[in-house]
Amino acid sequence: MAKPVSIEVWNPNGKYRVVSTKSMPGTRWINLLIQNDCRLEICTEKKTILSIEDIIALIGDKCDGVIGQLTEEWGEELFSALSRAGGKAFSNMAVGYNNVDVDAANKYGVAVGNTPGVLTETTAELAASLSLAAARRIVEADEFMRAGLYDGWLPHLFVGNLLKGQTVGVIGAGRIGSAYARMMVEGFKMNLIYFDLYQATRLEKFVTGMFLPTYGAFLKASGETPVTWKRASSMDEVLQEADIISLHPVLDKTTYHLVNKERLAKMKKAREAILINCSRGPVIDEAALVEHLKHNPMFRVGLDVFEDEPFMKPGLAEQKNAIVVPHIASASKWTREGMATLAALNVLGKIKGYPVWFDANRVEPFLNENARPPAACPSIVNAKALGNTNILYIFLIRMYNFFFLLD
Ligand SMILES: NC(=O)c1ccc[n+]([C@@H]2O[C@H](COP(=O)([O-])OP(=O)(O)OC[C@H]3O[C@@H](n4cnc5c(N)ncnc54)[C@H](O)[C@@H]3O)[C@@H](O)[C@H]2O)c1
Repeated sequence: MAKPVSIEVWNPNGKYRVVSTKSMPGTRWINLLIQNDCRLEICTEKKTILSIEDIIALIGDKCDGVIGQLTEEWGEELFSALSRAGGKAFSNMAVGYNNVDVDAANKYGVAVGNTPGVLTETTAELAASLSLAAARRIVEADEFMRAGLYDGWLPHLFVGNLLKGQTVGVIGAGRIGSAYARMMVEGFKMNLIYFDLYQATRLEKFVTGMFLPTYGAFLKASGETPVTWKRASSMDEVLQEADIISLHPVLDKTTYHLVNKERLAKMKKAREAILINCSRGPVIDEAALVEHLKHNPMFRVGLDVFEDEPFMKPGLAEQKNAIVVPHIASASKWTREGMATLAALNVLGKIKGYPVWFDANRVEPFLNENARPPAACPSIVNAKALGNTNILYIFLIRMYNFFFLLD
């Protein structure tokens, strides 16, 4: 018999039982669920990461849907438990879903939701913050001040890199990678090189497209040197040409240890380049990175994610040329509240039998606090596998929402 897990209950008489494995920011997600006849149980256990047994205990004998976190391994055991309890919906409170075995979810007919779009700019802003902090050695300088070591201005004190005119390299120019690229190009007049399996047409047009308004045209009109862009034919090309490289791919078999010992050595300025990772920890071989940092004190990294989260590989914490933050890239109030709302609406939508929204990149109507959200699931990653994409129905929903729901 599993150990009971402590919970907080909202709307005890609700018809549908929804479980959230964590308390999440904001109250809109709670209100949306309870207004739609859900009994909501939020886990209040003090431990940060729940075990599989804890989650099975939370699911219990009857559960219609679960909102979970990226720290939980959602595989065979949890999906079979959810299915036995009558559940048809799970949503990660994250855009990445490398913690979810989607094949196992398909096997049990459970829809898997994620929360794209709402965290794009917030995550890109953290990558940009880490880029600046690494380039200008802000954390080292802060520690130096606090240690009382500053005894006067010196020509060589904490000299870092000027970004203007240098090249920013983006690996994975999807939603977040493209937003980051725009920030670095527009904010710091950097040239861009990117590698992705697909062409980032909109990003390319923004930098130097043929038609106004492009940033390149704006610079030219102001008498400044226009920035350039290039789509690399391989990741190595980016490593060899960029001064700062930021990683934004999904984590899968093709991106595991994408940055390893050999690739670190290939970087244009292996000794003084900057590497940023706000994607997932295992995209970098962290042990190889620690060695590289040790031998190249002017090579700098900004890391939001780690290979063995919440742990760091031995030696990383001691490296002054590493800036490390605890997976906070999406941690702005608006974004976290929005993620909670999207995750709740994924689960609610599935319980209510709503269709999947037509474009997971355009989730703004779900985030408008002054209007009822559309009657749809914002983003279900296995909708196709479950046969949940009826185009005609989606079209009707769009018309319905347009005329009746949106203010
Ligand atoms: N640190 C955080 O808190 C945080 C927050 C949000 C997202 N993320 C991570 O960022 C990832 C990207 O999010 P997104 O919304 O931009 O997703 P996205 O799907 O829009 O972009 C991912 C891009 O990676 C590309 N890609 C896939 N395999 C590749 C490969 N082998 N080489 C190069 N490019 C490849 C894809 O083609 C796509 O363009 C998420 O999957 C998630 O893991 C982390």
